[in-house]
Amino acid sequence: MKNIVLIGMMGCGKSTCGKLLSQRLGLKLVDTDELIVEREGRSISQIFAAEGEESFRNMETRVIRELTGWSGLVIATGGGLPLREENAKRLREMGLVVWLKRDPASTFSSVSMAGRPLAQSGQTDFLARFREREPLYRRAAHVVIEDFSAPENTVDLIVKVLKGEATSV
Ligand code: S3P
Repeated sequence: MKNIVLIGMMGCGKSTCGKLLSQRLGLKLVDTDELIVEREGRSISQIFAAEGEESFRNMETRVIRELTGWSGLVIATGGGLPLREENAKRLREMGLVVWLKRDPASTFSSVSMAGRPLAQSGQTDFLARFREREPLYRRAAHVVIEDFSAPENTVDLIVKVLKGEATSV
């Protein structure tokens, strides 16, 4: 099979669901944030502080270019990765792109935003960022998932979509 790509706002559960999904399907998980951190030998906050966002975005684009041509992966992306048109286009060609559209207010109040440099300016800013990104996530996604009652349920839905038993939910 081609790849399954998870996109969505910071903290929406891409890494958690990606891990569960890769275990369920017996596929390898690639987490783009983890890959960048490993390669750089420093945290995302350190990269942003030392070089700024643009430089981090270039690292993301490099990772996506490198992954082009691979198959059988679950790819958990950083929240800003599909915003660049080149990245979004590549992701769509690489496999099924699933947008985890979790309510941003509930994400912000329940998930730790430590280590996420673009989520340090409070909830209003976070919600505004989500609204700004929404059309870009929509454009990049083949499928939208909106059930976040538990990560297992989110993953169940993704599996149903893969089997053709459900469409966007
Ligand atoms: C970002 C999301 C982060 C990380 C970086 C920027 C974003 O990943 O890539 O802090 O712009 O949304 P998560 O979505 O895993 O938090």
